Amino acid sequence: MTIRSSVEPFGIKSVEPIRRTTRQQREKLLEAAGFNLFLVEADDIFIDLLTDSGTSAMSTGQWAAMMGGDEAYAGSASFRRFRDSIQAIMGFKHVIPTHQGRAAERILFSVMSKPGDVVPSNTHFDTTRANCEHSGAEALDLPIPEALEPGRVHPFKGNMDFARLEETLQRVGPKRFPLVMLTVTNNSGGGQPVSMANIKAVKGICSRYNIPLYIDACRFAENAFFIKLRETGYEQKTPREIAREMFHHADGCTMSAKKDGLANIGGFLCTNNDTFAQAAKDLLILTEGYPTYGGLAGRDLDAIAVGLNEALQEDYLEYRIASTAYLGNRLTNAGIPIVQPPGGHAIYIDARSFLPHVPPTQFPGSALAIEFYLEGGIRCFEMGTLIFGKRDENGVEHPAPMDLCRLAIPRRVYTQSHLDYVIEVIIEVWNRRDRILGLELSYQAPALRHFTARFRRVGDRSLHAGMVSPG
Ligand SMILES: Cc1ncc(COP(=O)(O)O)c(C=O)c1O
Repeated sequence: MTIRSSVEPFGIKSVEPIRRTTRQQREKLLEAAGFNLFLVEADDIFIDLLTDSGTSAMSTGQWAAMMGGDEAYAGSASFRRFRDSIQAIMGFKHVIPTHQGRAAERILFSVMSKPGDVVPSNTHFDTTRANCEHSGAEALDLPIPEALEPGRVHPFKGNMDFARLEETLQRVGPKRFPLVMLTVTNNSGGGQPVSMANIKAVKGICSRYNIPLYIDACRFAENAFFIKLRETGYEQKTPREIAREMFHHADGCTMSAKKDGLANIGGFLCTNNDTFAQAAKDLLILTEGYPTYGGLAGRDLDAIAVGLNEALQEDYLEYRIASTAYLGNRLTNAGIPIVQPPGGHAIYIDARSFLPHVPPTQFPGSALAIEFYLEGGIRCFEMGTLIFGKRDENGVEHPAPMDLCRLAIPRRVYTQSHLDYVIEVIIEVWNRRDRILGLELSYQAPALRHFTARFRRVGDRSLHAGMVSPG
């Protein structure tokens, strides 16, 4: 018998209650939050798909390892277990713990880049872009053209356009490129994987121009499993062997252990370069802490050491990728436009196609996210003009290439019946999509504006209608 269900390969030992609110309550909560779901209290969310970052359920193995945490300031046993676990998977010479991924990015760019430099990536994540730009360098996205067509099916839509990389290097001059980055999987590009062939091709170009390649490794295990499923020659390899090969082509990585580290906090920076490692550790001491804890408790280091190995287990990855695909395929079957094919950690709804009457300058991704909350208490995340667009000095809004609404699936937290509920809610919103209004900003911060932005409904004169336009 062939079993087709994506059964969770774990039992539930401890449960956490989640609270349902009424629609009326949600209308009031939304208004108080300026229509920004970051500003709604987590207690008021029923199904939280805002992010897969730091939201994983830890295993009994991780909790047990935490009890063995060594809290020594310097030279702890926890650090050795952390370092050894990372080196066994990734093979880098230096392992530098940080409190989360962006701290690793800040150190990477502070040491490596300066004004006038250019840092290409398949697509920079928002914190990566912000840290790169903070150093004065330009963060340049070079995704393959297929990545910008949400409905287009391609097995490795996270790939970098390496022909454009080479053309840019020759045009601008390689001296202005301190490093090249590859984000695996490509979060901002729809959670899409990068093929081993693409990693090798990018590394080949980097080697010719003597430029280091760094991997943004947040979802390396999910990327490795996609390679196993989709790339010829990798069918028989384990996710661990594939991950090892991915990192073998890189000179270092930044990592948020809040994703494929299956931990609630933590990150690290790795490199094979001794000089860079020394400079990075000097900077680490200034803001994160001593290099054997980097802003984390010893017990956190232990949770990550175990979590990285669990994230590579094949039955876990099989269930993980299948359950995300389940959500994506059910939405597709209902006619809802999503980025195809389904990614590893999230489903991205194409908000521009969902709401063709809402122009990109009126934030269709945010408008849709608000409706999912209003309909069923679901929280998701806009990935579009609010996060990647720019408003110029004349107040003109320049839209992002795509407006997506991301439903990120926390690891090992929700069951298939939660996903069935999410599907029902989204279909309800789809059925009344013509009446959904766009948004205009009433407040924005100078950087990373999505966290604190406040909105008004465009053309909304009533107090609550907020939600849908008349008729
Ligand atoms: C691809 C990618 N890079 C970097 C980060 C930043 O990691 P952190 O949130 O731990 O700072 C994230 C977080 O979501 C991410 O998805």
